[in-house]
Amino acid sequence: MDIWRINLPQPQNVVEALDSILSIEDRARAARYARPSDRAQYKVTHGALRILLGTIAGQNPRAVSFDVNKNGKPRIMDKENVPRFSLSHTRDMGLLAITPRVEVGVDVEFQRPDFPCLEIADRFFSVEESGRLRALSVEAQRGAFFAAWVRKEAWIKAQGESLESLHLLNVGMGQSLREGRWWGADHALGLPAIWLQDVDVATNYAGAVVLNKLDKPVTPLLRYLEWVPGSHYSGG
Ligand SMILES: CC(C)(COP(=O)(O)OP(=O)(O)OC[C@H]1O[C@@H](n2cnc3c(N)ncnc32)[C@H](O)[C@@H]1OP(=O)(O)O)[C@@H](O)C(=O)NCCC(=O)NCCS
Repeated sequence: MDIWRINLPQPQNVVEALDSILSIEDRARAARYARPSDRAQYKVTHGALRILLGTIAGQNPRAVSFDVNKNGKPRIMDKENVPRFSLSHTRDMGLLAITPRVEVGVDVEFQRPDFPCLEIADRFFSVEESGRLRALSVEAQRGAFFAAWVRKEAWIKAQGESLESLHLLNVGMGQSLREGRWWGADHALGLPAIWLQDVDVATNYAGAVVLNKLDKPVTPLLRYLEWVPGSHYSGG
């Protein structure tokens, strides 16, 4: 599995070059963002997505077409054996995970100092996780919250589910998952087996990746790559 880190923001000429390979729908979505920085973030991450998937699929980036499931999970449309991917973007960082076959989810978040971590944990985490978070020192709570949050978001993104499922997976509050961990299937809850690993993104960012519906315990090989504008696009 490849995990691409996409540094944001990019210079205006890069944003414009990427804008030129977006679809009409992409541009319409970008235009709906009120802040110019959010519009640019959308254009860069979706441009990079098209370039990388187009390179793998042997397609012009402009020609890659997507559809989405009922919760908004995108996938490449109308082709057999296409790579699976997941995209996440926040502030100055984008992450894109690509796998040859297995469904994947990735999430990155900036660890905002003013984020109401305990309130959000009470709303979306299990009672046990929320309790564990509150039992940590105040200094440890923010890091532990965001580590758990990105694991849960990566998990629902791998499944193409919604935020309502977040509390179902106990993601190891306060533990490090840098080496990754296998979760067997939970048949009672109807949850498939997964691999979950923390992604070391940058200072003050939390990241995680999940591989979904694995049929046997595997330790996936992760390659961390830096996306550099121009290096993977030969179209014109
Ligand atoms: C998908 C979701 C996890 C987004 O998280 P986020 O931290 O806001 O945004 P991220 O940057 O990490 O991810 C966004 C990307 O995930 C992908 N995505 C969107 N919905 C997805 C889903 N259900 N599953 C997997 N991937 C999804 C898209 O590529 C999207 O990129 P885009 O908006 O630029 O097209 C979250 O909004 C969610 O759970 N949505 C599901 C629907 C839902 O519950 N709606 C009610 C919201 S209150």
